[in-house]
Amino acid sequence: LKIVNRTSKIPIYIFSKFDEIKKSLSEKGVKVIDLGIGDPDMATPEFIVEAMCRYIRNKENHKYPPYSGIDDFKKSVAEYYYKNYNVELDYKTEVAALVGSKEGLAHLFLALGDAGDYVLIPDPAYPVYHASAIIAGCSIYKMPLTESNNYLPNIDNIYPDVAKKAKVLVVNYPNNPTGAVADSDFFEKLVGFGNKNNVVIVNDGAYIDIHSSEEKIPSLLQTPGSKNIGVEFGSLSKSFNMTGWRLGYVAGNKDVISKLIRIKTYFDSGQFAAIQQAGALALREGKETIDSLNKLYDHRRAIAVEKLQGKGLKVYESKGAFYIWFRIPSGYKTVEFVSLVLEKTGVIITPGNAFGSFGEGYCRISLTVGTKDLEEAMNRILELKF
Ligand SMILES: Cc1ncc(COP(=O)(O)O)c(C=O)c1O
Repeated sequence: LKIVNRTSKIPIYIFSKFDEIKKSLSEKGVKVIDLGIGDPDMATPEFIVEAMCRYIRNKENHKYPPYSGIDDFKKSVAEYYYKNYNVELDYKTEVAALVGSKEGLAHLFLALGDAGDYVLIPDPAYPVYHASAIIAGCSIYKMPLTESNNYLPNIDNIYPDVAKKAKVLVVNYPNNPTGAVADSDFFEKLVGFGNKNNVVIVNDGAYIDIHSSEEKIPSLLQTPGSKNIGVEFGSLSKSFNMTGWRLGYVAGNKDVISKLIRIKTYFDSGQFAAIQQAGALALREGKETIDSLNKLYDHRRAIAVEKLQGKGLKVYESKGAFYIWFRIPSGYKTVEFVSLVLEKTGVIITPGNAFGSFGEGYCRISLTVGTKDLEEAMNRILELKF
């Protein structure tokens, strides 16, 4: 085939590479434990599955859904924001359904940036921001997330001419891959920056419900002035073990949302209405599910942190998401260390630099395997000599 620059400029998605490695190791009889991708090991709660069985039988649901989502789902998102954050949203204009939040995030730069426009994205970060900015032809300005700044970008370091030219700034709290959380002071600063420079502020809140049980996580939309300039993405995937159902939402500034829907109408025709109904039920009645998931992840987090620290590794004390971010032993390159772990133990962990160059020297572990498997994986790693 002739070279296509757009395709060759985006790296192969790391987790699709892992799938191949896993398959070939399993074929050799190795029991692979995958601490790579953040895909919950538990089933979607029964009350959601059971309701879905009914929703699927409603023939009204068999049609194309409305492009911005069904009213019931959008209302449930607005209710969720009011109940949890005291944020009022007009469900008709300030909420839209997505085919998973990845879909909305991937279309974001096409909706908000022209070719050559600056977009500000963190490094390390969920790889979709980087790839979709390239696909949209935008110029990427990286905001480093480092241990010393608690994995919050330093907004004061953004050059004024970059700020002037930028159209969008994306952050992600609770953060993937580091597990860092943002406080309301940080969000205030960010919203101030967005309003001053007319830059759209986006918080990817895919993990907003997932955090240490003791932690209270703010929403970007609680920040005064945030709706002038900001949107928050959310996902049902991690909060209710619904990754395969593909349902997310975007909430906040109505002009941003309407631009995104305009692009989306040419790419997809919305998520199955029955799934949106099930999602509405989850948002309305799923608080217990979230609380018990967070307790379980607390337990797993404690196990992983204790074992890694026991091996002398420096682990970031994360409060958010279900990831452990730690420094690799000295004397290794990140990919070299990950390969050593994989070859000698059959455990998949993600190299930090898969999330950007500032992730070099770190690795990410996902807590989304059964607790027994997590312990076994940790023990296998502990036996390694490094
Ligand atoms: C930071 C972040 N944002 C968004 C997503 C996408 O989630 P989904 O498309 O399942 O809603 C993920 C998935 O892992 C993620 O880690």
